[in-house]
Amino acid sequence: MKIFLDSAELEHIERAKEYGILDGVTTNPSLIKKAVLKQQEQGQAVDMKDYLRRVLQAAGEAPVSLEVIGTNRNEMEKEGMFLYAQFNPIAENVFVKIPINPVLEPDAESHYEGVETIKALADRGIPVNCTLIFTPEQALLAAKAGAAMVSPFAGRLDDYLREENGLAFDKKDYFPSYGLEKNGEPLEDKGLVSGIDLVGQCVDILGRFGFACEVLAASIRNPRQVREAALVGAHIATLPFDVISELLIHPKTMEGMQGFTRDIVPEYAQLFRTS
Ligand code: E4P
Repeated sequence: MKIFLDSAELEHIERAKEYGILDGVTTNPSLIKKAVLKQQEQGQAVDMKDYLRRVLQAAGEAPVSLEVIGTNRNEMEKEGMFLYAQFNPIAENVFVKIPINPVLEPDAESHYEGVETIKALADRGIPVNCTLIFTPEQALLAAKAGAAMVSPFAGRLDDYLREENGLAFDKKDYFPSYGLEKNGEPLEDKGLVSGIDLVGQCVDILGRFGFACEVLAASIRNPRQVREAALVGAHIATLPFDVISELLIHPKTMEGMQGFTRDIVPEYAQLFRTS
């Protein structure tokens, strides 16, 4: 499974690249806002074109998803073409992120504008990461329209299941892939019992019909979700920097290191001094 960094912060991207663990980067308007605020707090004004140029160069050959902000086909298609024309030449690594359905209110005339935009961009050879996927059916339609990646939002589906059922939780709380029960009844949304269940069903369906579309497990909040995303066959998981760091930590690893360090005899240590 490829590991993407879910962050627009230059420092995170540079560090992940340096550690040799960066397969790609995902951004969204909220992550861009966080990065901009951080720069401003440090007294630095942000020139967005220049900032994104540095992000793309820092990622190198790793793909970077940049999201449109429009809420209809015309806007999104124009913005997608702009993002690709403006930024892809820098490092040849831009994916354009398009929401599966950009409407803000339920009574919108059409719910197809995301799908139409994916097709229009894919026909021009622009790679699309289709975002805000909450059902395998949305993933199927995105893949059919030509998306190169689909992003099921695992953590936010878990949030939804808990919110709808009045359960208190913190953002990073583990939600088991096999689901939770309330009053003896399983929590579910349209037959999905967890965010990881959503990821797994997307993988199964797209794989079964041979779509050339990768499933990117998004909205991942803790290490166990990373493991579970891998176990259900996600091609990619995109992780906040702190979750990547948490993957490395175990008290027994630390305890083992303390023991090994205590046990170093001078004869063995000498070996390294002369090397
Ligand atoms: C990335 O592609 C998504 O936009 C991101 O993972 C959403 O994560 P969140 O639900 O923690 O905001």
